[in-house]
Amino acid sequence: MPLSRRTLLAAATVAPAAALPAVAGCDGAPATDTTIDPAAPLGLRFPDGFGWGAATSAYQIEGAAAEDGRGVSIWDTFSRQPGNVRGGDTGDVAADHYHRYVADLDLMKSLGLRTYRFSISWPRVQPTGRGNPNLKGLDFYQRLVDGLLERGIAPMATLFHWDLPQPLQDAGGWEARDSAGWFADYAEIVFRKLGDRVPVWLTLNEPKTVVNVGYSYGVHAPGKRDRSAALVAAHHLLLAHGRAVQAFRAVGVKQRIGPALNLAPAYPFEGDDRDAPAVRTADGFENRLYLDPVLKGGYPDDLDIEPLRAVVRDGDLAVISSPIDILAIQYYNPVFVGPGGDYLTKLPTSVAEWQQIYPEGLYDVLTRLRRDYGDIPITITENGMPRADELSASGDRVVDPERVTFLRDHLRQAHRAIAAGVKLESYHLWSLLDNFEWAEGYAQRWGIVYVDYESQRRVLKDSARWYQQVIRRNAI
Ligand code: GCO
Repeated sequence: MPLSRRTLLAAATVAPAAALPAVAGCDGAPATDTTIDPAAPLGLRFPDGFGWGAATSAYQIEGAAAEDGRGVSIWDTFSRQPGNVRGGDTGDVAADHYHRYVADLDLMKSLGLRTYRFSISWPRVQPTGRGNPNLKGLDFYQRLVDGLLERGIAPMATLFHWDLPQPLQDAGGWEARDSAGWFADYAEIVFRKLGDRVPVWLTLNEPKTVVNVGYSYGVHAPGKRDRSAALVAAHHLLLAHGRAVQAFRAVGVKQRIGPALNLAPAYPFEGDDRDAPAVRTADGFENRLYLDPVLKGGYPDDLDIEPLRAVVRDGDLAVISSPIDILAIQYYNPVFVGPGGDYLTKLPTSVAEWQQIYPEGLYDVLTRLRRDYGDIPITITENGMPRADELSASGDRVVDPERVTFLRDHLRQAHRAIAAGVKLESYHLWSLLDNFEWAEGYAQRWGIVYVDYESQRRVLKDSARWYQQVIRRNAI
């Protein structure tokens, strides 16, 4: 399986991360211009009502890991095993959002957010992953949703952002076919409680990352290094998605639902033959393996995924392709593929070495979806970059011009895609707050709001102030 995000790439030449490159645009797109003030308006207006948002996830920000009956997740277990997370960091406290959510809601309001994407912690709702709900856990999300609605911010909830209850992992995790049923039962509990007050529901966050990084490379929980197990897990994750969509309809929720898929356009490292076999295979594992079953009802037939095919049963693909209302996509980077199928580094990266920066890739992803999968409404649920941000000496400022440039350049491509007819309705940058970045711990800061982990004080970075203006003007 080709390497993917968060994996050390067999690097070719890597330019220093600090200087963002001038990258020639594809399809005649304007190249990135770093000579202008990144915060200067470009005069590109977004459609009225465009959903300006930010995203987070439960394990990454909530903390309160042992409070109010929350059960243990695979990330609690994994992060405690030495060597798995940089610096031995865990999500025990994180950004302490569980206790500070009211102040965080006020912060969102002050930024002008129109939509906020968060995730629900399965082990808070079902501490063992099965059986009766933990009402205190559900209550937290009820208060969060109420607080958003009171402030005029549309909630967008993800049901699974990687924090699988540990007892379910002990029972086989996503390798067990039963996992699809466990997930549908959990989803049903949440839909009954909050279904109609959340306009957009997302089933799974980035199944590809669970498959590749969690099951194939062992860099994320549950830390397996088994390609066959990874492919089996892929099918059961997709089945779980489909079962949750069916539960949503069965409960009768009158809102919208879809999956959140991280997509990476695949380009040849040299030349421009995007149909070269190695590029096509990379595209298959990065994108089509997840898009095709959900949107076309079948797995791509050109991929070597025998362990997956072996566990597919009659009727599964009909479940997986249950009609969705919206497709959530997350875009961080392209992949450049060598003739032998290896992934190579062609462009400068952020401090995340897997993240080559290529804004035009977002345009390619969005327009490709329309071309190959139809005219489905799309929301961007993640896009952003990390820095080793530092507080200014005065303690009230964080200067992060590269992030402003990154966001502006990606929004420019989103704008281009809208002009080309893509039904893009909202954009959630990753992330609202600095947070627990999985195997990287707290070293990489992805927020537009700086979190001082000692005091839990929040400080708006320059990028947050810039985003506030973007939202106010509805334009970049
Ligand atoms: C992901 C996640 C986020 C990450 C972000 C930065 O999908 O990987 O949804 O949890 O923190 O992508 O790596």
